Amino acid sequence: MSEIVYLGIDLGTSRTSLTSSTGIRTTVWSYVGYPKDHVAKKKMGGRETIYGKEALDNRMSLNVFRPLAGGSVKVKGAKDTGETKKAIKDLVEHVVAQAKAAKGATIYAVVGAPAEASVEGKATILEAAANCIDSVIVTSEPFAVAYGLDFLDDTLVVDIGAGTTDLCRVHGKMPDPEDQRTHIIAGDAIDQLLANLIKEKYPEAQFSINMVREIKERHASVSTRMDEVHEMLPVAGKPTKFDLTELVYKACYSLVPPTIAALQDLIATYDPEFQAKMRNNVLLGGGGCRIQGLGLAIEKALNEYGGGKVKTVEEPEYAGSNGALKIALDMPDTFWKEFKSAKKAEA
Ligand SMILES: Nc1ncnc2c1ncn2[C@@H]1O[C@H](COP(=O)(O)OP(=O)(O)OP(=O)(O)O)[C@@H](O)[C@H]1O
Ligand SMILES: [Mg+2]
Repeated sequence: MSEIVYLGIDLGTSRTSLTSSTGIRTTVWSYVGYPKDHVAKKKMGGRETIYGKEALDNRMSLNVFRPLAGGSVKVKGAKDTGETKKAIKDLVEHVVAQAKAAKGATIYAVVGAPAEASVEGKATILEAAANCIDSVIVTSEPFAVAYGLDFLDDTLVVDIGAGTTDLCRVHGKMPDPEDQRTHIIAGDAIDQLLANLIKEKYPEAQFSINMVREIKERHASVSTRMDEVHEMLPVAGKPTKFDLTELVYKACYSLVPPTIAALQDLIATYDPEFQAKMRNNVLLGGGGCRIQGLGLAIEKALNEYGGGKVKTVEEPEYAGSNGALKIALDMPDTFWKEFKSAKKAEA
């Protein structure tokens, strides 16, 4: 029998992470680029496909896709173009190749998707994986985070990504659709709001959305005692200093009210006997959990509903893929056989 390699994959809008049973742990920005012409291809060393940050950095020479953003995997009812589907497939194959599985190995993967991934979204993932993975199980991303950290009892996981904030009630079993909520105020929406606020207050400042994201990642805070944010932005080409403190706070805080509403909804519809326990067991994950003071701000907002306790995961980059691998390793073999993909048939 061939060797079995298990993979945990967190397929995110901005970042895709892999943890494998071969001991590999890696993360790549979810960008895929294709050279625009033969000059671009030469510049890229003859390569047909460029991934991650390298694709973003060379975007003048490449047609760059951020294929999960706004697509069927993330947004209910969204349709993917053929080009987007190809980019997702290329991204998945690139990530799977990082596991360095021996030729002929059987590959089983658990892929984390948003809490309420649609049927189309799941189908897109299965299609993307068909050529490189033997059997795929799509699971709720926040559930994977909880599973990886053994938070399996009356926990509320909040996974703050780039495209979505996914919430999931975990209570000792695989979650059902009614255990999950998703809202779209996450990293990308914060970047967009911050960009709008800067434009409104300082119309003379020049910046791109990537610059705004970098500023946010350096200073993101909803702490009442946050450090001041002074950043240089060009004005008619001349670097100029701007005070962005209030704007960064405001943009980051926009995440709190919809998250509290979703949390409260998941708590209120849970067995009343266990509601207090769940409120006291909120776990924040995803890149957005790096916003300074977010746990405290959520605790403060929960006071109105009887209080709560919030913890933050230590390694947001890998919490999802580590958990997905753990689910994969714990899954009975018979289960995998039910989900066989087309890979073997084509081999
Ligand atoms: N220090 C930081 N402060 C605030 N936000 C941050 C920080 N570092 C990263 N982020 C944001 O976290 C987001 C990415 O998080 P994550 O990698 O969990 O998302 P994703 O899994 O790719 O997205 P999704 O789950 O929506 O598909 C980005 O919006 C990024 O700007
Ligand atoms: Mg994510």
